[in-house]
Amino acid sequence: MDKVIETRGLTKYYGAALGIRDVDLVVRQGEVFGFLGPNGAGKTTTIRLLLGLLRPTRGEIRLLGQDTRRRFQSLLRDIGYLPGDFGLYGDLTGAQYLEYLMRLRAGRPTPEQKAAMNRLMRRFEIDFAKKIHGYSKGMKQVVGIIQAFMHLPRLTILDEPTSGLDPIMQEAFYELLVEETGRGAAIFFSSHILREVERVCGRVGMIKEGRLLNVEAMNERGALLGKKIAVKAPRDAAAMFQRLSELDGVHDAALRGGTLELLFTGDMRQFLRFLAPFEIQDFTCEPPNTEDVFLRLYRADRDV
Ligand SMILES: Nc1ncnc2c1ncn2[C@@H]1O[C@H](COP(=O)(O)OP(=O)(O)OP(=O)(O)O)[C@@H](O)[C@H]1O
Ligand SMILES: [Mg+2]
Repeated sequence: MDKVIETRGLTKYYGAALGIRDVDLVVRQGEVFGFLGPNGAGKTTTIRLLLGLLRPTRGEIRLLGQDTRRRFQSLLRDIGYLPGDFGLYGDLTGAQYLEYLMRLRAGRPTPEQKAAMNRLMRRFEIDFAKKIHGYSKGMKQVVGIIQAFMHLPRLTILDEPTSGLDPIMQEAFYELLVEETGRGAAIFFSSHILREVERVCGRVGMIKEGRLLNVEAMNERGALLGKKIAVKAPRDAAAMFQRLSELDGVHDAALRGGTLELLFTGDMRQFLRFLAPFEIQDFTCEPPNTEDVFLRLYRADRDV
């Protein structure tokens, strides 16, 4: 059983207002999948649909190979979830609260689950003996993250897990993801932050205005980020510029003096073949400024 999440034509309207439309997603066992999108894009809507907290207007959802319209409760044992607005109040200490949630989730936890909970608590090093009403926002978020993983689920779905975390806690979270995938678990998490998605995800799906734009593997050809290329060719730059339409994956091309500048997300071999016939003086190729790319992806239409 390879696919842990599979949606087909997943659509949600809130009355007349669009939540998401025709979202087809596949997430596989052992991968960290980043779900990237601006405010109001449909990330939380998608996640709440996956968890059965919202009813789809239409479309299908399979989690861990099962149609979620059937036997959803039993599936939930194998799933971890951190909501975007994880609120925590009360008179219990952090440790007591986690134990309480564990019993709720797993009945009687296995020795492995107990060990996992303790390991997670050591990893994040906040004061679990303190009562929760004295916790900061980040400390509550840490408790939220721990409860999403402590029962050793096969799939964990997190809505903006790193919001409110300081850099050290963020780092601990990223390390945790690596460890989780090492035991074959899958993680699906939403974020606005390209850098973290770029760093920790094997694949990323981008959503905008309720539509899934594209799903990219981060390691394939730098497809998501591309390369910033400048080709200095005083005699040929204009001719090259005119023939750029022959290439797939050219963005933001511009001619500056005798230099052709562009952002390239296509196949680099194809690009080098394209260059070969021209008289080239100099050539630079570097990773683009991530913020620029992010904005470009957000602004661009379906065929980014
Ligand atoms: N209960 C609701 N009633 C009506 N519209 C809603 C409701 N919840 C969400 N929406 C709309 O659905 C769209 C997607 O919202 P959603 O909360 O899924 O976005 P998001 O990607 O999680 O955004 P953010 O990054 O701000 O958390 C938005 O246009 C939003 O206004
Ligand atoms: Mg949201």
